[in-house]
Amino acid sequence: MALKVAVLISGRGSNLQALIDAFGPQVADSPVRIVVVLSNRPDAPGLERAAKAGLKTAILDHKSFAARAEFDLALDREIRAAGAEFVVLAGFMRLLTEGFIAAWKDRMINIHPALLPSFKGLDTHRRALETGVKLHGCTVHFVRHETDTGPIIAQAAVPVLPDDDEAKLASRVLRAEHRIYPLALRLIAEGKVRVEGERAVIDRMPAPDGVLLNPADS
Ligand code: GAR
Repeated sequence: MALKVAVLISGRGSNLQALIDAFGPQVADSPVRIVVVLSNRPDAPGLERAAKAGLKTAILDHKSFAARAEFDLALDREIRAAGAEFVVLAGFMRLLTEGFIAAWKDRMINIHPALLPSFKGLDTHRRALETGVKLHGCTVHFVRHETDTGPIIAQAAVPVLPDDDEAKLASRVLRAEHRIYPLALRLIAEGKVRVEGERAVIDRMPAPDGVLLNPADS
C-alpha cells in the first residue's frame, strides 16, 4: 500500500515537481501517492505543476485567518480530509504551531537548503558564501518545534566554488535537493527509516565511498 502524502508549498514548487516526477500518477507501483497539494499562497506557481499532473490541489490563504492556530487547524482538516497520513513540506514558508507539529510528529518532513545544523533559517546561500564554507548542501529532516531542527534523514553536499554568487550556489544546491527529497521519501515509504531518540536511523543502505574534498587534491 502506497504512503498517502500531502505536499505543502508556498511558491515555485520545483521540489514538488521532483516528487511528481518520482511518485506522480504516471508512475506505476509507486510507494508514495500524493493525495493533495496545498498552498498557503493562491498565486504559487507550484499549484500549476500539481494541476498539470492531475493532482488534487487546495489553497488555504493564511491572510484570511485571524490567528496562526486557526490556519493550522484548517490545514490539519484539509490534510486529513484528503486522506493523507504523511506531510511533506516543499518550500512551505509558514511557521507551524506547536500543536500541529506535535500532531504530525515523525509523520512530517522538511527540506532545508543547508547542511543542518549549519545555517538554519533564511538566506542560507548568502550566509554560506559570507562564512566561506567550502561545502554546502541540503538536508531532509523530520520536523520539530524548533525551526530547522529534527532527526536528519538525508543530506547532500556540494562544493562552494570561488566564482559562486548566491544564484549559482542556490541552483547547485537545488539540483541536489531534487535528488535527495524523493530518495528520503522513498526510504520512509518503504519503512526503512526509524526514529531513535532524536536521530533517524536507516539500515542496510548503500553509502557513498570516499571523501568529498574541496579544493580537490588532484
Ligand atoms: C527550496 O530551496 C527549499 O529547500 C527551501 O525553499 C526552496 C523552495 O523551492 N525551503 C526553505 O527554505 C524552508 N525553510 P521550490 O518551491 O522550488 O521547491
